[in-house]
Amino acid sequence: MRIDIVTIFPEFFDVLDLSLLGKARQSGLIELGVHNLRDHTHDRHHSVDDTPYGGGAGMVMKPEPWGDALDAILGDAAANDDAAPDGDAVPDGGSAPDDGPILIFPSPAGDQFTQAMARELSLEQHLVFGCGRYEGIDQRVVDHYESRGRVRLVSLGDYVLNGGEVAVMAMIEAIGRLIPGVVGNPESLVEESHEDGLLEYPSYTKPASWRGHDVPPVLLSGNHGAINAWRHQQQVDRTARVRPDLLA
Ligand code: 6GU
Repeated sequence: MRIDIVTIFPEFFDVLDLSLLGKARQSGLIELGVHNLRDHTHDRHHSVDDTPYGGGAGMVMKPEPWGDALDAILGDAAANDDAAPDGDAVPDGGSAPDDGPILIFPSPAGDQFTQAMARELSLEQHLVFGCGRYEGIDQRVVDHYESRGRVRLVSLGDYVLNGGEVAVMAMIEAIGRLIPGVVGNPESLVEESHEDGLLEYPSYTKPASWRGHDVPPVLLSGNHGAINAWRHQQQVDRTARVRPDLLA
């Protein structure tokens, strides 16, 4: 999978060198491009924001740097599509292709990011993330790219972050680990919270007794039918207690 990120804080994404995702990049499973939005400004001060039309608090990100930055990335992608035998390049004003890159704007006004969305996005060839700061990006940037391809506004949840960077980091981690080969043992992906609509069951390792707390005896029984039944019941009880909305 190819992932491009446009941001005014490229250093934020240095941590993607680490851990499982870092390994996935080294092995070529994930190809990452981090682009500084300020490289696409043409004024002396490299301004990326301005005051909002209509008044109000805060600043809005200007459309021109975004247009330049995204054209540079999406234009390249279109060129790659042309090279493919069945590449159907979309002419200006054409309808959105369903196999081109997906442009994702993290936004508290977007669709809720879920495990199901992470799984869907993990099947894509090319994701492009546009990290907004301040009060957001000029709406015409979203409108323009919606007329040219697939665009999604995606929110982590009902709270406000200062910008999209941390949200994009969370999304990339959730999506990246679902790409085949990124997580060593694919079975470990199956039994996790949210994969079957339930929270995960509690896990234990040695010693069997620690500070007076014993591991539930069924887990020492060797009876795999009983263990599976107990784990499933733990999932149901836990979900009912903590996240009754998931059971509905
Ligand atoms: Cl995706 N972006 C920002 N700025 N704030 C958020 C968010 C995203 N999701 C929740 N809060």
